[in-house]
Amino acid sequence: MEKITIAIDGYSSTGKSTIAKQLAKALGYIYVDTGAMYRAVTLFAIRNGLVGGKHENIHALVQLLPKIRLKFIYNDDLGFSEMYLNNENVENEIRGLEVSKHVSRVAEIEEVRHMLVDMQKKMGKEKGIVMDGRDIGTVVFPDAELKIFMDASPEKRAYRRYRELLEKGQKVSYDDVLKNVQHRDQIDSSREFSPLKKADDAIAFDNSDMGLKEQFERIYNYTLRII
Ligand code: C5P
Repeated sequence: MEKITIAIDGYSSTGKSTIAKQLAKALGYIYVDTGAMYRAVTLFAIRNGLVGGKHENIHALVQLLPKIRLKFIYNDDLGFSEMYLNNENVENEIRGLEVSKHVSRVAEIEEVRHMLVDMQKKMGKEKGIVMDGRDIGTVVFPDAELKIFMDASPEKRAYRRYRELLEKGQKVSYDDVLKNVQHRDQIDSSREFSPLKKADDAIAFDNSDMGLKEQFERIYNYTLRII
């Protein structure tokens, strides 16, 4: 069977990664969560006092980029890959609200995007990959055979994220999560370099009123029409 490249983009908390993971598993493909990469760079910036503190100096991050080593390592027990920043497993920390608050500003920096997009292109050289993010169908893999652009109402998305964070034991309020989701969408859609937008040839996919099973079946069917 021919291996293809699948790009799944869309707004925050639309459930891209859940579907992308399932799809990769069903096809025997590699799955890459590019949001985790932007989150890990943000965690590095927070730890080095470059964002979020009193003496914020976000642009100093550019000089420190060569010190950042990112790696995905597959966890057999969990059945998915976890993000490592300079050999430390940061999977939990990067999902918290503190990183979510700052990540979209870090993701606006041109040099950060260049570094991560280069890594992502290399990961997808052999095809057989499902990658999710904001600019996969437009910038990373403009020639991807299948492109999906996911959306859902902000309230539904915030509620899903809120429940996910509660399940992970994080103390958050629904209002804070909703504000964060809307704020990130606004920055992601209006930034200068590779803003979040639907590729012309992407399939628009609104999952506001769709369960996981239906979403998976529909997207899996799109894939079967191509391979
Ligand atoms: O997908 P996730 O919500 O984890 O992404 C976190 C943030 O990383 C997004 O809000 C966006 O600012 C940034 N991002 C990006 N381009 C990508 C993936 C994520 O700018 N391809």
